[in-house]
This record gives sequence, C-alpha cells and structure tokens, in this order.
Amino acid sequence: MIQLIRGFKDILPGESELWQYIEKTAVDLFQSFRYNEIRIPIMEKTALFARSIGETTDIVEKEMYTLEDRKKDLLTLRPEATASIVRSYIQHKMYATDPVQKFYMIGPMFRRERPQKGRYRQFYQIDAEIFGVASPLADVELIVLLNTLMERLNVTDVEVHVNSLGCPECRPAYKEALTTLLNGVSDKLCANCVRRKDKNPLRVLDCKVPACQDAMEDPPALIDHLCDACSDHFNTVTGWLDRLKIPYTVNKRLVRGLDYYTRTAFEIQTGALGAQSAVAGGGRYDGLVSALGGPDQPAIGFAIGFDRLAEIVGQSDADYRKPLPLFIAALGATARDKAFDWCLSLGRLGIGCEMEYAEKSLKSQMKKANRLNAQSVLIVGDAEIENGEAVLRNMASKTQQSVPLENLIENVAKAINERS
Ligand code: HAM
Repeated sequence: MIQLIRGFKDILPGESELWQYIEKTAVDLFQSFRYNEIRIPIMEKTALFARSIGETTDIVEKEMYTLEDRKKDLLTLRPEATASIVRSYIQHKMYATDPVQKFYMIGPMFRRERPQKGRYRQFYQIDAEIFGVASPLADVELIVLLNTLMERLNVTDVEVHVNSLGCPECRPAYKEALTTLLNGVSDKLCANCVRRKDKNPLRVLDCKVPACQDAMEDPPALIDHLCDACSDHFNTVTGWLDRLKIPYTVNKRLVRGLDYYTRTAFEIQTGALGAQSAVAGGGRYDGLVSALGGPDQPAIGFAIGFDRLAEIVGQSDADYRKPLPLFIAALGATARDKAFDWCLSLGRLGIGCEMEYAEKSLKSQMKKANRLNAQSVLIVGDAEIENGEAVLRNMASKTQQSVPLENLIENVAKAINERS
C-alpha cells in the first residue's frame, strides 16, 4: 500500500473540527482588527524565496522543495507566506491607493526539515502582515493580536519574547564585531557555525548546539548597540507592552531564521511542546518591499505554526465536534424513502440530519444515532406511515413525543429549534 510522504500528515475527522475551531477564532479576530484575507499561490519562482528569506539561511540552503518545470524554470513550494505577499503587494501595486494594507492568510507551507513532534515537512501557518506603517504601534498591534488569540483559545503556557535586530545603520558594525569575536573561538564552534560566522554571524547566537552556546558565555547583544532611531522604536514597543500589561521577555539571543528582518523580532514560546517551543514568530522587514523592486514601504508580520497551536489547544479534553440535530431511524423500504426525502429537505433548511442508507434493525440504528451524538431521533416504520405519525425521541431526556407526518419538516424543525 502507498503511504503518505514522510513529514506530511492527514488531518482526519475528529481533529479537523479542532482545526476549524482555531481557524474560525483566528479569522473572527482578524476581521475585527480589519485584516483582509489574501490567498497566494502554493508555488513561486525559486528566486523570490532565495532573495527574500536569504541565500545563507537553512530554509534556502537545504529545506526548499524545488523543481524544474518543462521550460527549465526553477519553482519552489512556498516555505513561508511573507515573500509571496510582498510580491503580490508590489505586483498589484496595492500601495498605490493606500500603502497601508493589512492581510491575513492561512494555508500549508513546505520545508524539508527533519520530521519530529511539532515539526513537519508540510505544515500550516496562520499569517498576518501590515504594510506601510513605520510606527512601532504596528508592532504592538500584532503582538496584541497574537496575545488575544492565545487568550481566546485558552492557551496559557506561552511567553512573548522580543528583541531588536537593528537596521542597516547599526547592524553592520555589530556584525563585524561579532565576527571578530567568533573568529577567536572558531575552534569551539560547530561546523555549521564556522561556515556561517562570516556571512550570517547572528545565526550563531541561537545555534542549539551546546558547544556553540558555551563558546561565548555572554556574547555582545545587538540590542545594546542599536542606533538612536532603532532604540527609540524598541523602547516604544516595550513601553506599550508594559502599559497594556502584556508580559514579555527581552531575549537578546532571538535572531529568527530568516534574513529579511529589521528592528523588532518576536516569538511566542511555549513549554507545552517539548523541543519545538516556538508557536509563532515574526518581526519587521522594512527593507524587503524595496529590495524586491517595490516602493520604499516598511512592513511587519507574524506567522503562527497552526499544527503546533492545534497540538496545544487539543491537549484540553474539549470536544469540538458539533452534535447531530437529528437522526432518522427508518424501518422498511417506504419509510426509508420518506426518510431520505426528509433528510434532504432538512439539510437544505440548514438542519443537520443523518439516516442509515441500508436496511438495519432499530437497535443497530439507535446505536449509530448514539455514536453520532444525535440530539433527537425520529423513528418511523411502515406502520407509522400508515398511521400518519412518527415518534421523536429526545436522546438527552429520553422522552418521546408523537409528530404528525403531515408538515413533518415544519414540526420537526420547530421541535429542534425549541431545543436549541
Ligand atoms: P518562521 O519562524 O519560520 O517565520 O515560522 C513561523 C512559525 O511556523 C514557527 O514559529 C513555527 O510555529 C511554525 N513552523 C515553522 N516550521 C515548521 C515546521 N517544519 N513544522 C511545523 N511548524 C513549523 C516565518 O515563516 C515568517 N514568514 C513569519 C513572518 C511573517 N515574519 C514576518 N511576517
């Protein structure tokens, strides 16, 4: 039998209700904060990701699913959404009417990482981006949005981590100082860090290899070397978080795995997931729109790992399956045809109804009704059809009432609506 691809997964009925609940909660929140949905393609030209995420990042160096199409163009399954949203913002000149645009998108991403709990090769993100706002208020808004979503989903074991990654004014000098320092301890660094210390020294700061962590006990932090403008920006963000009483930690080692970031970077970390502790991550990328050929517009956004969030929310024993309003237990061919008609009519009216398609005993049909969590069961056999009355059983109270078959849909709809 052909199995699914390693690192990919099915989201089965039973779990998909939980996903729908999370998605609905997120979409409701985005809509009240006036974010508009954008749907971007699953595949883009490889160059888009290479240029925006960065040539020396893990994602671009080794995790992208890239293929050559018949015309020898290199195409890549999207490993994240930001690059595509920036491309779309530029391509459709969305900045022309108003540079300030707020977007959200939800969908699958692809990275060829080593699969483990909380880390997949196809995973889903809930993504939000704000374009055209240089003010730190946009940073605060996104962090509040994330925090509110966690509250609404009852996710409590989370911590907001923030840092500043500076800007082209202040970062180069810091990077140079860091590289000099790293050159002094290069014999203690892992092979990966030795390779990236010149081009991407900041990544060494969050290397998980203990030897690299130990190599620099107290590395200089970029946050202590910011220019005045970056420093003011960061202080305004943290000032607002204080004012809004949103707990946060300034994490000087937080550098993020994508190269486009400037200034504020943040993550939501959790203890509920073992090694994969980041539920969401994001930050400012003020230079990316212009680097990809657009106008000089600032931007900031985040992405939540949907799979990880679902894992945490699913740890509670809440049942997200919707109960079934009505099951029709039909006995005999005539009753079954009637039941089918009624099921279709009720479905069209928006009232969920199920029945047994095959000839089965009443006992077996009642068992099925119980399994489907039916709130009511309409019992009808050929005798009931003859008498013009069926039995409606309330499964919670175990009481029964007779319902005339004439105007049955209206009568049943009324009884069901009275219950809810
Ligand atoms: P990222 O930190 O690469 O940022 O991913 C965001 C979140 O996606 C992570 O915190 C994690 O929860 C989830 N995630 C990443 N990789 C995997 C995986 N292999 N399996 C399961 N979950 C995963 C970005 O993607 C940026 N585009 C975020 C952003 C938006 N920055 C600005 N705007």
